[in-house]
Amino acid sequence: MSSPFIKLSSGFKMPQFGLGTWLAKPGEVANAVEIALKVGYQHIDCAVSYENQHEIGPVFQKAFKDGVIKRENLFVCSKVWNTRHSFDKAKLCVSEILRDLQLDYLDLCLIHWPVGYDEETNEIWPKHSDGRMRYSNVHYSETWKALEDCVEKGLVKSIGLSNFNHKQIEEILGMAKIKPAVLQVEMHPYFQQKKMRDFCGKHGIAITAYSPLANPTMPFRKDGDPTILTDSIFLRIAEKHGKSPAQVALRWAIQEGIIVIPKSISEKRIKENFSIFDYELDEKDMDEIRGVDRNWRILNTVERDGKHPFWGFGEEY
Ligand SMILES: NC(=O)c1ccc[n+]([C@@H]2O[C@H](COP(=O)([O-])OP(=O)(O)OC[C@H]3O[C@@H](n4cnc5c(N)ncnc54)[C@H](OP(=O)(O)O)[C@@H]3O)[C@@H](O)[C@H]2O)c1
Repeated sequence: MSSPFIKLSSGFKMPQFGLGTWLAKPGEVANAVEIALKVGYQHIDCAVSYENQHEIGPVFQKAFKDGVIKRENLFVCSKVWNTRHSFDKAKLCVSEILRDLQLDYLDLCLIHWPVGYDEETNEIWPKHSDGRMRYSNVHYSETWKALEDCVEKGLVKSIGLSNFNHKQIEEILGMAKIKPAVLQVEMHPYFQQKKMRDFCGKHGIAITAYSPLANPTMPFRKDGDPTILTDSIFLRIAEKHGKSPAQVALRWAIQEGIIVIPKSISEKRIKENFSIFDYELDEKDMDEIRGVDRNWRILNTVERDGKHPFWGFGEEY
C-alpha cells in the first residue's frame, strides 16, 4: 500500500499521508519514524519546537544507508520557529533544522506561527517571570523573504504557512515572489474549515490537516470534549467497513483531498493509520461525517498568544 500524492504549486509532489511527530518524546520518536518508513510512510512532519529533530536525523541516515527509502522518495516537512522570524534568524533556523535532521534540503518548510517570540534567546518558550510569553514584533513577511531565499539557495523545495488566517495569507500572497504551496492548520471532522479550504483551493494552496484524529490526548482538551474514537457515528461507519474510527476519520480527509499527518508512537497504530488505501467511504458516509462539523478548534492558543498583534485565531477563518 502507498499514499496518493498531491501536486503542489511549486511543481513538487507531496505524499497525502505522513507521520506527525509532535509530543513524540526523544526516546520514542526515533523508533516511531523507523517503523513508519519500514511500513511505507514517505512523509514525516517535523518542527523545531517538538525538540526531537536531532533524534530523527540519524533514523533518516540509517534508512537511506539500509535501502529502506531513497532520499528522493522521502518528503520531509519542518517549520521555522517563533524565535527565528527575522531574516537572518529564519535562515539560521533552516540551517539548524537541516543539521538536526541530517539533510541537505527540506521538501517543505513552513512558518510555524504568525506570532514571533523574543529572538535573543535559544529557549523555545521565552517567558517573563510571571509566565507571559516574551514576544517580538518581527513581521512574518520578513520570515517569508528568508524562506524564499532558502528556495533560491536550494535548501528548501517548497514553502508554506501554518496557523495563518486568510487575511494573513492574503498579505503573503500580496508580497510573495514564491506563493505558499501549503497551509498546515488544525482540521478534523469536528473542525472542517470549509471556508479556509475554499479559500486555499482558489489560490492553489494545498492543505495539511494537523490533529486529523482530533488528537484524543491533546493537552488543550477539556473534560467532555468529543472524541472520534468513541463517537457513535464513527463507530458505526467503522463497523460497516471493518475499519477503526481513526481509519474512518483519516479516510474521510483523504477523500476530501486533504493531506493528513496522524501522529503515533505505537507500531500497531502506525500500521493501522496507514491501512486506509484499500477501501472507500461512500457518499452517505462522507455526508454523515460532514454533518459532525461543530467548528471546534482544540488547539486554541488565545491564553498563550492572544495578546500578540499577529495572533490569528480571532478571525472567522
Ligand atoms: N503546525 C502546528 O502548529 C501543529 C499543531 C499540532 C500538530 N501538528 C502536527 O500534526 C501532527 C498530528 O497532530 P496531533 O499529534 O496533534 O494529533 P493526532 O494525530 O490527531 O492524534 C495523535 C494522538 O492520537 C493517538 N493515536 C494515533 N493513532 C491512533 C489510533 N489509530 N487510535 C487511537 N489513538 C491514536 C496518538 O497516541 P499514540 O502515539 O500513543 O498512538 C496521539 O496521542 C503532529 O504530530 C504534528 O506533527 C502541527
